[in-house]
Amino acid sequence: MPLPGFSLPYPLPREAMPRHVAMIMDGNGRWAKQKGRPRVYGHKCGAERVREIVEQSGQWGIEVLTLYAFSDENWGRPTEEVSVIMKLIEHYLGKEREELNRKNVRFQIIGDIARLSPALQRLLEETKRFLAGNTGLILNVAISYGGRAEITRATQALAHKIARGEIKPEDITSDLISQHLDTAGLPDPDLVIRTSGEMRISNFLLWQSAYSEFHFSSVMWPEFTREEFASALRHYSSRERRFGLVSNHDNGRLQDMSPC
Ligand code: FPP
Repeated sequence: MPLPGFSLPYPLPREAMPRHVAMIMDGNGRWAKQKGRPRVYGHKCGAERVREIVEQSGQWGIEVLTLYAFSDENWGRPTEEVSVIMKLIEHYLGKEREELNRKNVRFQIIGDIARLSPALQRLLEETKRFLAGNTGLILNVAISYGGRAEITRATQALAHKIARGEIKPEDITSDLISQHLDTAGLPDPDLVIRTSGEMRISNFLLWQSAYSEFHFSSVMWPEFTREEFASALRHYSSRERRFGLVSNHDNGRLQDMSPC
């Protein structure tokens, strides 16, 4: 067990840290099964891991941490499992609110919140308000979230604006679409981490991750420690992000048209 307040030194120079890290917290169920425990035990231990990763993100000066807590597709899981995940989110917020405040964390939600229970909706809103004055890490939790549904909602909002004559179809730009997504105002993720060895995006931040770097860790989420996080960041820093352009090293080498 790490000591309270335990933190690792910066894994990268401060200026090389990603501004926004997004995480697909996968493998809770399989991890529990490997231990001969029910899936919900994996979610419980996964929620404890959230605490540590949030704390470390704040200490390293990451601006936004987005966590994929519950997808649109997860509504199809057995009712008991859905209810345990919702309770864990509730419990986490209830218990951690003061601590998040002490750590100067802000809180946001993305997803179709209307599908959640009224009590959880209230708690999410209260937490958002309670932490709104802070200036540190933005903890952005994706609940009842799907990238396609988010893009669909944004498209509908824009279509309504056109129908009301507020904008013209030609006014729609990539920036305007971004401003109508749940993540409006947040930078796109620089790094998306998925645990458990699966290499899929699973409907997560589809629009926003167009130029993100991806890190797939074989570790199951309940075992994704601060050290694993630091190692993901070091891998990220060794990549060269070109955003569709060419590497600086290759400039000036465009003249060779000899046969291939
Ligand atoms: C994926 O593992 C994990 C989830 C669907 C739930 C994640 C939720 C938490 C960690 C709980 C609390 C969250 C917060 C923000 C406090 P899986 O069940 O799909 O694993 P499997 O692929 O091994 O079945």
